[in-house]
Amino acid sequence: MVQFGDRTMKKLRSQEWYGRQDRDGFVYRSWMKSEGYPHDLFDGRPIIGICNTWSELTPCNSHFRDIAEWVKRGVYEAGGFPLEFPVMSLGETQLRPTAMLFRNLASMDVEESIRGNPMDGVVLLMGCDKTTPSLLMGAASCDLPTIGLSGGPMLSGKFQGHDLGSGTGVWQMDEKVRASEMRREEMFEAESCMHRSKGHCMTMGTASTMASMVESLGMALPGNAAIPAVDARRYTLAQMTGRRIVEMVREDVKMSQILTRAAFENSIRANAAIGGSTNAVIHSIALAGRIGVKINLDDWERLGSGLPCLVNIQPSGKYLMEDFFYAGGVPVVLRELGEAGVLNRDALTVNGRSMWENVREAPCWNRDVIRTFAEPFKANAGIAVLRGNLAPDGAVIKLSAASPHLLQHRGRAVVFETIEDFHARVDDEALDIDENCVMVLKNCGPKGYPGMAEVGNMPLPPKILRKGVLDMVRISDARMSGTAYGTVILHACPEAAAGGPLALVQTGDMITLDVPKRLVQLDVDEKTLAARRAKWTAPPLPERGWARLYVKHVQQANQGADLDFLVGHSGSKVYRDSH
Ligand code: FES
Repeated sequence: MVQFGDRTMKKLRSQEWYGRQDRDGFVYRSWMKSEGYPHDLFDGRPIIGICNTWSELTPCNSHFRDIAEWVKRGVYEAGGFPLEFPVMSLGETQLRPTAMLFRNLASMDVEESIRGNPMDGVVLLMGCDKTTPSLLMGAASCDLPTIGLSGGPMLSGKFQGHDLGSGTGVWQMDEKVRASEMRREEMFEAESCMHRSKGHCMTMGTASTMASMVESLGMALPGNAAIPAVDARRYTLAQMTGRRIVEMVREDVKMSQILTRAAFENSIRANAAIGGSTNAVIHSIALAGRIGVKINLDDWERLGSGLPCLVNIQPSGKYLMEDFFYAGGVPVVLRELGEAGVLNRDALTVNGRSMWENVREAPCWNRDVIRTFAEPFKANAGIAVLRGNLAPDGAVIKLSAASPHLLQHRGRAVVFETIEDFHARVDDEALDIDENCVMVLKNCGPKGYPGMAEVGNMPLPPKILRKGVLDMVRISDARMSGTAYGTVILHACPEAAAGGPLALVQTGDMITLDVPKRLVQLDVDEKTLAARRAKWTAPPLPERGWARLYVKHVQQANQGADLDFLVGHSGSKVYRDSH
């Protein structure tokens, strides 16, 4: 035990480095002193790692060096010693073939950086889509005291006198161009109008969804998800986060005490209530797997699918994250869930209070943005899990973003074997397709793309858009952007590249979708399917590098698409010295 200020606490893990009075202790301290740190910072006070995903190639996280400085203020104020470190950053709009290919790689970077270095607690700086799950997953496998801090959404996009939402506006304008209702040059003018401040996408896309998930899991201080990136209160929150993580180290509150089954249940319900992204399904299952909680698709169906969507925000509604913040943000949504009896009120959060203590008095300032549970924005609007011979291990559909008239539909399949096949043929006026067909896209799952790209919301053929039809049933083993919308069935498992039934669909087959019955069915007899299966061959493995390791070991989407050898946790103990 060591004396720390007026408190006595157990010896911290960082003292296994800096508390040593031997040659190695000299090495650990001396090189750090080259940065100008005085000797007393190594006296046993909590050392807080600030895990930073700053990168100029991740525009959504480009302000994180500033945010880190405010976290440091808080850490120093509370008597800790902050040390910022970089990890692999995943810029959703820049990384090819898809940022998701690297989520697990980044999580390994995070896990090993935390475990291998002398830190007692961690603040995770997260923003752009995959930076949130990768940091949470890596940190969960170490299980130190940890707080999440999101970078915050951008200010609302403004174009031609209207709000313009990240991603959602791109899909909408592209549809207009393809339907000859807008000139491409006019669309390009919006480039400078959509994203006009620091921050992540300001629709309820995956970044906002994941930030809301962090808050509803209890992994961030209240208000984390919605404060705009450029609002002074984002920096206040950063400073408060710095103060709090030092207390958490003193209290020895580990991530596993926050990330309980009750917490995951709260986040699944919150996702339904905010109209959140389908990507949250995969990330939550992967995160739960790291911390040792069993969450699966059945939990998503049972807990979330029948809940109402309360938040009127794009892509399911009309407002943007800035409006959501002014209306009260995630605490209001959680209060609504609590008052409706569908919140685990006692779940512990990082500020040491229960979820209910944090949100029970959260005021709503705009009921058009955040509706009540009794009078929701959309009823029965969570993410539904479908099964059937086309997806025996499950597929998902985001009900709040789907067209009600297509939820029971039977149509002729028009199959695209790969994303290249899709791009080559979708604009062809001779393509044999009408609005009653079901568009099928194969080989875009975790192994097939590889990395499970966000291509499931296939753009409709121009000849259909010109009729004024804006939605068709689409099925794939891909994901879709949280900013996208439509009657889009995603994450079909097993995927085509793993020999799943999706691989056997041929153009002209009939497909039945019956969402109320949670059914997605290929209406082809088993004998025919067996004959097609006998002819199927698996695609070749990538020749080398990360892609090869990934394809060999990635699990299917219903298991969270984590690598099989990364599931679980190893704690924070390091058993050998470096010299
Ligand atoms: Fe980074 Fe949308 S592209 S959050």
